Amino acid sequence: MKKFVIYGGKKLKGKVKVSGSKNATLPIMAACILADGQSVISDIPLVQDIKTMGKLLEVLGATVEYQDKNIKITPDTIKNYKAPYELVKTMRASIYVLGPLLTKYGQAIVSMPGGCAIGLRPIDLHLKGLEKLGASIKIEHGYIIAKSKKLKGNTIVLDKVSLGATINIMLAATLASGTTIIKNASKEPEVVDTINFLNSIGADIQGAGTDTLIIKGVRNLKGSQGYSVIPDRIEAATLITAAIITKGDVFVYGFKPEHLTLFFEKLKESGAKFKLENSGVHIFPYKSRLKGIDVITEPYPGFPTDIQAQWMALMTVASGRTIIKETIWENRFMHALELARMGADIKIDGNTAIITGVKKLTGANVMASDLRASAALIIAGLTAEGITEVRRIYHLDRGYENLYQKLASLGAKIDVMDESII
Ligand code: EPZ
Repeated sequence: MKKFVIYGGKKLKGKVKVSGSKNATLPIMAACILADGQSVISDIPLVQDIKTMGKLLEVLGATVEYQDKNIKITPDTIKNYKAPYELVKTMRASIYVLGPLLTKYGQAIVSMPGGCAIGLRPIDLHLKGLEKLGASIKIEHGYIIAKSKKLKGNTIVLDKVSLGATINIMLAATLASGTTIIKNASKEPEVVDTINFLNSIGADIQGAGTDTLIIKGVRNLKGSQGYSVIPDRIEAATLITAAIITKGDVFVYGFKPEHLTLFFEKLKESGAKFKLENSGVHIFPYKSRLKGIDVITEPYPGFPTDIQAQWMALMTVASGRTIIKETIWENRFMHALELARMGADIKIDGNTAIITGVKKLTGANVMASDLRASAALIIAGLTAEGITEVRRIYHLDRGYENLYQKLASLGAKIDVMDESII
């Protein structure tokens, strides 16, 4: 296993481009199952989760080819409808194949995703929604066994806003008969991007970006000659936070600032200096400390849970007290204890973290527990005095494309070493 050895205190400088969105590419890849013929998806990030989804599609029988930043998916040879435990356990988004397999082939067997480092992660809303479309679903030996004749449109009100359930039900509804209405749907940009892709291949979905989606079932969908996924707003926020914590001078570009409206408002309140452009942001150095600014994670357009850990890292060195409330995942403060090893003053009370800013962090050995926690510890390491070793950075490979190279190109001093080397 590899670790990052970070020599803190270097101000980042230069410009850096954001990669394509992992969380938009994953459902779009699953959506390719629905098409008759090949689809070409561009600007994908070559990260582990994308490769795992590619592998899963291959296991189902599809042909998957990678070419630079493009992926070509030909689903016509799919003959197997089972997503095995070995793949689902490494990536929960594998559940996205359930809706498409069911609606196109009338059957799907998908391993139940277990819990993960950030919480329980149930899938009840996915299953209830598919049942409302007429699927019969049972759980046996750790697998979801779903069957149906032609699915039939219905009105589904989600108990809770869920990105994954919105996507799974929507994917199934595209080839169902009649109209499906999803109320309390997710408004996340990744859902909107999936809808744009589906409509580009012949689906009829209205209401993208609102909490009500109206999906008129169509007979078939064609493949796509080329669809570019949106840039990764979470990666953008991660790079921006890294630049700010080092008081750097950095242009982060190739993303949509409108996907991060609340994040930028919070940054402004904190006193960070930046200038927004159409597809990027200039981060400028500042002299004094940032001010502690509270956040509550909520579904889009609220403050993203996927930026909570990075925000916490930034706030550890802001002045005053910051309260962070995590409302999406019940166990997403694992990074707090690690940040405390670097000198941060953080108290956890249920789903609330109370951070009292310190003047500086000091380098320490820390351990990453998930993708975003890894990013938070790296951000903290960039500003800490001395050397920070971040272990278990394999989590990063799941969702950040070339993060090491990107930070190094901005002047960060990081060595990637084997964990066994002391
Ligand atoms: C997606 O997960 C993202 N993953 C997560 O990003 C992100 O944290 C999350 O959305 C919230 O924005 C991908 O896009 C692959 P949800 P998802 O269904 O779809 C509850 C990352 O770091 N819920 O919107 O699984 C659930 O417990 C990852 O890139 C149910 O109760 O999240 C949570 O409290 C981590 N029943 C809330 O809804 C269900 O059936 C939102 O979850 C489904 C969800």
